[in-house]
Formats: sequence, C-alpha cells, structure tokens
Amino acid sequence: MAGDSAEGTALLEARGVRRTLGRDEARTHALRGVGITLHAGRSYAVTGPSGCGKSTLLYLLGLLDRPDEGTVSIMGRELAQAGDEERTRFRNEHVGFVFQFHFLLPEFSAQENVMLPMRRLGRASRREMLTRSALLLEQVGLADKMRRSTGHLSGGEQQRVAVARALANEPALLLADEPTGNLDERNSRLIFELLAASARRQNRAVLIVSHNPDLAARCDCVMRMRDGLFVNDG
Ligand SMILES: Nc1ncnc2c1ncn2[C@@H]1O[C@H](COP(=O)(O)OP(=O)(O)OP(=O)(O)O)[C@@H](O)[C@H]1O
Ligand SMILES: [Mg+2]
Repeated sequence: MAGDSAEGTALLEARGVRRTLGRDEARTHALRGVGITLHAGRSYAVTGPSGCGKSTLLYLLGLLDRPDEGTVSIMGRELAQAGDEERTRFRNEHVGFVFQFHFLLPEFSAQENVMLPMRRLGRASRREMLTRSALLLEQVGLADKMRRSTGHLSGGEQQRVAVARALANEPALLLADEPTGNLDERNSRLIFELLAASARRQNRAVLIVSHNPDLAARCDCVMRMRDGLFVNDG
C-alpha cells in the first residue's frame, strides 16, 4: 500500500482499487488493486511512466470516476459507491483538482475562472470572492493578468490559473495531475512550493503527479507507479 507512516487519522484511504478502461482490443487494466493512504498536512508525489495509471487514479480519488472494485474513503466517508449528488457536493466542498489538460473557460477572465468554484459552493460574498481570487492569482505569479481572458494566456499561465482555481474553496484534498507540465523551471518550482506549503499551512493533503524527479523530491513522500500498481504493492 502506498502512502507514508505519518501519525494520526488518514484524510483519504483507498483500498483494492481496480479500474478497467475501454473495450475489446482497447480494454486496459488501468489500475490493478491499488491502495493508498493520505494524511492532512502532508504532500505526496506520484511518479511513473506514461500509461501506468496515474491520471486514472487521480480521477478516482477526486471522485470524477468510479472504481470497478475497491473503496475510496475521504474524511471518514466511503464515497466510491455513494450517489452522484453526494459525490458532486463533497467534491465541490472538499476537493481541488488540477487537470492534466486544465479545462479553463477561455472566454472568461483568469479571475472569473478562479471565482467559479466559489460561486458554485455559494458561501462567499462577491467581495470575498474577488479578494480571495486576486490573492490566489498573485500567489501563482499572475497579479498583472487577472482580468485577461484565459484564452489569451500562454499554456503555462493557463496552468497556473488552474492551480489557483483548484485552491479556491480551500479544499481538504488537493489533487494535481502534472501541474507543471507546461511550465519553465522557475514557475514549476513556484507551483510545487506553493502546493507543498499549502499542505503544511492549510493542513490539507496534497497529491501531485509529476514526471520531474527533482520536483517530486520536494514533497514529503514520493510514490512510484508501474503498470497499474504502486511499485511497493508488488
Ligand atoms: N478511455 C480509455 N480507453 C481505453 N484505455 C484507456 C482509456 N483511458 C486511458 N486508457 C489506458 O489506461 C492506462 C492508464 O492511463 P492513464 O491516463 O491513467 O496513464 P498516465 O499514467 O496518466 O499516463 P501519462 O503520464 O501519459 O499521463 C493507459 O494504458 C491508457 O492507454
Ligand atoms: Mg496522465
């Protein structure tokens, strides 16, 4: 089972997760019985070759997909087989997700994109949403481009907006799929440090998929996947 030996109650526990994708000759055992434990206040990196199942795992842990078998429990709630409505509500409130392909709304400004999850949750006033989104965009180095539509930002800038958006609702669990794939070295470090620091300061669990071993080593725990399993799962 992957994870670390940190003390205390786990924020996320997944056990025996299996997922098959595609059919006929495209049928792939993307995950073959994965277990993972994440603790609040800790940062984790997942590495492994292309196609080993990293994105598939992140989708399952982020409640964007369901396993064929196995359990995913977050903050003590078993959610793999929960209803769509409960999963969506839980995800909005407690999970931040940075997609490998960031899925911003190109005609909206950077700031509006970051405010979107806050709107959906409906707890903050307009003033709070404006202040918080501006602060997050400043933290990812985009203070001067907040009002620009994201369709007119570079790939790396869009990725940083996506990181700010994932942090918008102060999630207990932050999942990021190659958040620095389009970034230069300086900005990659900035994003990794921001996310790792946010684990410690906001006491959240942060899981980052990365191909970069130097960046992965900045996390508290590095886990390696191969062929649908964590390497230590045998
Ligand atoms: N819709 C699908 N139908 C069939 N097979 C799929 C589908 N999506 C993914 N796969 C397969 O599942 C496996 C795991 O894919 P996944 O996207 O999780 O890999 P990954 O580790 O994220 O790779 P990368 O580093 O390239 O992003 C791969 O072998 C992939 O070809
Ligand atoms: Mg992937």
